[in-house]
Amino acid sequence: MAAAPPLRLRWRFVQPDRIDVSDDRAQARTPHAADALIEVRGLRTVLGGKVIFDGLELDIPRGRITAVMGPSGTGKTTLLRHITGQLRPDAGSIRIDGADVTALPRHALFALREKIGYLFQNSALLTDFSVFENVAFPLRQHLDLPEELVRNLVLTKLQAVGLRGAAELMPSELSGGMARRVALARAIVRDPTLILYDEPFVGLDPIALNQVLKLIRTLNDTLGITSILVAHEFAAVARVADLVYLIAGGKVVARGTPAELTRGDSAWTRQFFGGEADGPVPFQYPARDYAADLGFPAGAASSTPHTEPRP
Ligand SMILES: Nc1ncnc2c1ncn2[C@@H]1O[C@H](COP(=O)(O)OP(=O)(O)O)[C@@H](O)[C@H]1O
Ligand SMILES: [Mg+2]
Repeated sequence: MAAAPPLRLRWRFVQPDRIDVSDDRAQARTPHAADALIEVRGLRTVLGGKVIFDGLELDIPRGRITAVMGPSGTGKTTLLRHITGQLRPDAGSIRIDGADVTALPRHALFALREKIGYLFQNSALLTDFSVFENVAFPLRQHLDLPEELVRNLVLTKLQAVGLRGAAELMPSELSGGMARRVALARAIVRDPTLILYDEPFVGLDPIALNQVLKLIRTLNDTLGITSILVAHEFAAVARVADLVYLIAGGKVVARGTPAELTRGDSAWTRQFFGGEADGPVPFQYPARDYAADLGFPAGAASSTPHTEPRP
């Protein structure tokens, strides 16, 4: 990418608590919303001798919320690290607005990262900094802005997540849900075009979960952001995601709207969305013969067959 993609901001300031997380989302879409902002092709990644991705292919539509789901350890965080260019794959390409992240020179990679907001797993707030300073951090780190502008930007984003009044609190004084919202304010403080949420629902009570869901939807729609949502809670994902990818065994095993995946009848969708304990992801980790492990002659415990590795 020779130059960073233009920032197309559509900031209509809306109180988050007046926005519905409604199912009737089609009307909120622009005619161009179906374009792919990100195209992943033939992605292959090997980490520590283990194949994480083996020909992964997916498209992330512009201006929408796309969920990436899958069993833990399947490579969801790794995929986000590929998208930000923190990790290069062994093969394949990741195009963002047409530019292949795997081939970008350093300066272009930095320009790209400035357009990406990242909500880390577990919020990752700086414990010695106030809420205000946590949100201001990305501005102070890279930009030399007048203090008054920093203050306006930070308070605007805190207002958007409903926490302007909490600006002077320390992270230790926040509930889990508030901390997640502060992390969200920090992720959007530089007006990203793309936001990556890594497990944003973990540990939230039902009220905080509703607030975070509403914010993800509101930020996506009012700022025209493209969102990638990594999560494993299907009930929550189904309430905000426009499109869902299920990845397992290094590949996409299912793709569709939440409603399509609920109706899906593959073994993968049944196990993952129906919560079955056994299926393509085996209950038993691959093991040696059970009888031999117990010290009996081979085959004596044949009622528990040797479990094959996942497909
Ligand atoms: N730097 C690394 N070196 C070796 N293995 C890694 C590294 N990073 C991640 N892994 C392994 O890659 C797999 C996928 O990790 P991750 O993307 O964090 O999974 P997920 O987010 O889906 O739970 C895991 O088995 C993890 O142990
Ligand atoms: Mg992860």
